[in-house]
Amino acid sequence: MCGIIGYCGVGPAFPYLFEGLKKLEYRGYDSAGVEVGGRVIKRAGSVDGLKNAETAGLAGRCGIGHTRWATHGAPSAVNAHPESSGPVHLVHNGMLENYAVLRAELPGRYPFVSDTDTESAAHCIRAGIDGGESLLAATWRAADRLKGSFAFLVTSDLEPETICGIRRNSPLVVGTGERGVFLASDIAAIAEHCEEIFSLDNEESVLVRPDGPRFFGPDRREIRKASIRFDKNYEKVGFEGYSCFMEKEIHEVGEGFLQTCLGLKNQMKGMPAELFRPKRLLFCGCGTAYHACRLGKKLMERLVRIPCEAVLASEADEEDLPVDGETLCVFVSQSGETADTISALRVCKKLGGRTLAVTNVVQSSLEDLADFTLKTHAGREFAVASTKAYVAQSGFFYLLAEKLAGGLPVSMDLEALKAGMEACVDLSEIRALAGEMKGESYAFFLGRGLDHLTAMEASLKCKEITYIHSEAYAAGELKHGTLALIEPGSRVILFVTQRKWQEKMMNTLSEVRARGARTVLLSPFSDLEDCGADRFIRLPAFPDLYMPLISIVPCQSLAFRLSRERGIDCDKPRNLAKSVTVE
Ligand code: M6R
Repeated sequence: MCGIIGYCGVGPAFPYLFEGLKKLEYRGYDSAGVEVGGRVIKRAGSVDGLKNAETAGLAGRCGIGHTRWATHGAPSAVNAHPESSGPVHLVHNGMLENYAVLRAELPGRYPFVSDTDTESAAHCIRAGIDGGESLLAATWRAADRLKGSFAFLVTSDLEPETICGIRRNSPLVVGTGERGVFLASDIAAIAEHCEEIFSLDNEESVLVRPDGPRFFGPDRREIRKASIRFDKNYEKVGFEGYSCFMEKEIHEVGEGFLQTCLGLKNQMKGMPAELFRPKRLLFCGCGTAYHACRLGKKLMERLVRIPCEAVLASEADEEDLPVDGETLCVFVSQSGETADTISALRVCKKLGGRTLAVTNVVQSSLEDLADFTLKTHAGREFAVASTKAYVAQSGFFYLLAEKLAGGLPVSMDLEALKAGMEACVDLSEIRALAGEMKGESYAFFLGRGLDHLTAMEASLKCKEITYIHSEAYAAGELKHGTLALIEPGSRVILFVTQRKWQEKMMNTLSEVRARGARTVLLSPFSDLEDCGADRFIRLPAFPDLYMPLISIVPCQSLAFRLSRERGIDCDKPRNLAKSVTVE
């Protein structure tokens, strides 16, 4: 799971590679490397480490680059890509499954120096070249031996100013412009330099020279490819006055929600009516997108009463899934590139389900595979922690419930909800709480019903960008075991936005206070201000049904503030990547 980039043209390659890699860092940022004109330079750490005296001397007009999220082997310079074997240099996005077998099979004259799965591919290609094959033929032969997922860019010192690209289950795009040919994992990395962009399908390959690309189909015959539509400027995004992407994205939550709901209403009108008459529903995603699916399931149970499952994409098992021709399977993903979600969609298709992708970025593999697509309009996220996309995805589920049930019990006032979200973005109580929590090492997030789902998402935000261990619990479950962990000073954050659960939540509050917990209560109910919690954070009041859209926002902001207090780069927390393109 990584970002790859290639350039072959009339200008010096390194600046294009560096700039493209910066845009691909959302795919991983633990090490990076480039190869230009046969010289390979690799570093542990983020792409910025590649800007140094050594790379300043790279004058070649053709090269490849890589930013890594380690799967096999530690994030070190030796395990960074490009991987080289003799004249061959290769960058890889994906994961090889039979690399251990290949390691054992490859002759001893190709010694392995790294711990990566990728190095076996470099040796396989070199074996072909040593046997007299061209770079392209050797890459094809190697691809036939490999199991798993890959997008490769390969160069050979024996064929200067040439890049060979091939893909299986990992994306690869090729763009052409005045300055030459560009290749990348994502349009975002190359769009501004391109007049035309081509998206490779599975098993297709490309041979790039300065005069242009030649494409080959899965049968290795040359093919003509049609270019795809793209927006040249769509990735020109900066912090726009904020300190980082996450802060900016939290401030965009309200607008993203509004635009999403307005856009979806229109998009849904244009879809076949029978799509919205399913016998069963299955919602699927990972991480935050899965939490949105859990909220969706709750809404369906309450409002629609069609059997509905929310499934973690990584757990989607053909043997267990309740999917048939009358099941609407909804796949939720900000990026549309999450490998687990893509794989789950394939399984559901195989079982005959009707597949609907709900994605946020402009173009993605998930939407290419799905029968139908709906777009959330939150605007692309760059920070690793998902914020505005979660609220937009939640908005989708409210609208789906409305569509399937033929209405909602209380109408959704989009403008008012947007204003409510915006009022929660920068609460002074949240700043104060972040200051108080900065030295703490664990936290519990508790809620009942819809609030339990908010607690789950709030806890994930806390974990991923503050490194404070946290757990979310259905509040009533605490006394069945987890209460044993509460001791004097334990941090417990409680959500009370559902009147029907208020009394029971007050019992939970008493139980944790009795054990010395430091408590924070988030609620729109002013009558709870004196309930005994150490901190009361007043939320704007909306009908209980819609409170999940509001109450998550201060928690996103808390996680952001806490990461600041703890000196963590919230846009790029350790060990993570924005888009998880391996299973
Ligand atoms: O791009 P996706 O929505 O498919 O990503 C799914 C998860 O990887 C993602 O939501 C992840 O959990 C976030 N880092 C959470 O903030």
